[in-house]
Amino acid sequence: AGNDSIDLSTLTKQTGYTGLDYGFVNTASTKSAITFIDGDQGILRYRGYPIEQLAGKTSYLEVAWLLIYGELPSAGELAEFDEKIRRHTLLHEDLKRFFSALPHTAHPMSVLSSAVAALSTYYEGETDPHNPEHVELNTIRMLAKLPVIAAYAHKKSVGQAFLYPDNSLGFVENFLKLNFGVLSEPYEINPVMSKALELLLILHEDHEQNASTSTVRLVGSTGANQFASVSAGIQALSGPLHGGANEAVLTMLGQIRDSGQSVSRFVERVKNKEEGVKLMGFGHRVYKNYDPRAKLVKEAAGEVLAELGVTDPLLDLAQELEEIALADDYFKERRLYPNVDFYTGVIYKAMGFPTRMFTVLFAIGRLPGWLAQWRELQLDPQTKIGRPQQLYTGSPERTFQTL
Ligand code: ACO
Repeated sequence: AGNDSIDLSTLTKQTGYTGLDYGFVNTASTKSAITFIDGDQGILRYRGYPIEQLAGKTSYLEVAWLLIYGELPSAGELAEFDEKIRRHTLLHEDLKRFFSALPHTAHPMSVLSSAVAALSTYYEGETDPHNPEHVELNTIRMLAKLPVIAAYAHKKSVGQAFLYPDNSLGFVENFLKLNFGVLSEPYEINPVMSKALELLLILHEDHEQNASTSTVRLVGSTGANQFASVSAGIQALSGPLHGGANEAVLTMLGQIRDSGQSVSRFVERVKNKEEGVKLMGFGHRVYKNYDPRAKLVKEAAGEVLAELGVTDPLLDLAQELEEIALADDYFKERRLYPNVDFYTGVIYKAMGFPTRMFTVLFAIGRLPGWLAQWRELQLDPQTKIGRPQQLYTGSPERTFQTL
């Protein structure tokens, strides 16, 4: 029988399976004390703190500590954490050669994921998930090295030389210099850019059991180490229905502009469900109200572009699109609102990042959440290997016959 004709309750009784839940719409995979979301109210809290109170008032590393260790750090703890991360930014010179083997056209998300997997080979014997010292060291290593790998993926794609990390700089400033600095030329940090990037990274740090975090947990549940789990999480994030949406939004806005069609016409095509036409950056599995992160990003977008002295017609286009969609019954009935990805791309573009780097920036933002969730999983005595059930719909037993 095909899927549609299955009487699930009968099958469940016959097989003893407890339920079929495509896309895990109604099934919790774990308990977690890290992030709280109320999708109807549009609430997001990290360890109990509303996102609006953290964004713009804390640093990326402060929030990373909060997510990973459960409380905000004291000034001394934060300084020590920052110092440790600065000391671990260097990549092994051999690993730098790994980038040479890849084509310059490689998507930076593929480069990022494979380089993180490759990174684990430098630490064999030091990646036991049950050894707290290993876990701690690899937490620091990953927080320190992921931005460097990301910047090298960027440099590789534009054919420029890699810079060494400048450990006199803070986390975000160092990352900007690695991306936009040019060998043997001084690089001046633009405080508008570093402030905006810090905000965006904080807004992405965790989002409970989304697809990439669930991937990190599933891989982690097999006893695989942090590098393997995060590498898989990066791949899950790359899809256009997840983190890849920030890149897809900019592509969509560019296509609308270049096609010369009106925004209303594009919205009609979305509503008619034309093949491949979706309003990217809209809709969310959990938020059935305005995504609180999107609200903060939208406010920041106008400010950052003005402060950087950039005018971008794509921002106006995005605002028009949002206005038309929010007033339309199709979107109202389905409770579709802009999600975090809708306005981030416009800011990243104004900073000078190529579109294909956008999801990489999301990955750097999300890393502390992945590490915190992976750690929570390992410390939970109820953790078991993740192993979903299925309802078999194939052929009954039959006999093989030679031709
Ligand atoms: N544009 C047009 N219609 C949409 C959109 C959209 N962006 N999102 C959902 N819908 C419609 C669906 O077609 C469906 O309509 P129907 O009831 O007539 O069939 C209804 O709204 C429900 O949508 P689902 O796809 O069932 O919702 P689901 O929770 O499975 O998907 C998702 C959520 C993947 C985010 C979806 O809204 C989407 O594809 N959005 C665009 C991609 C995007 O922006 N992803 C980023 C998500 S946030 C993040 O990962 C950081």
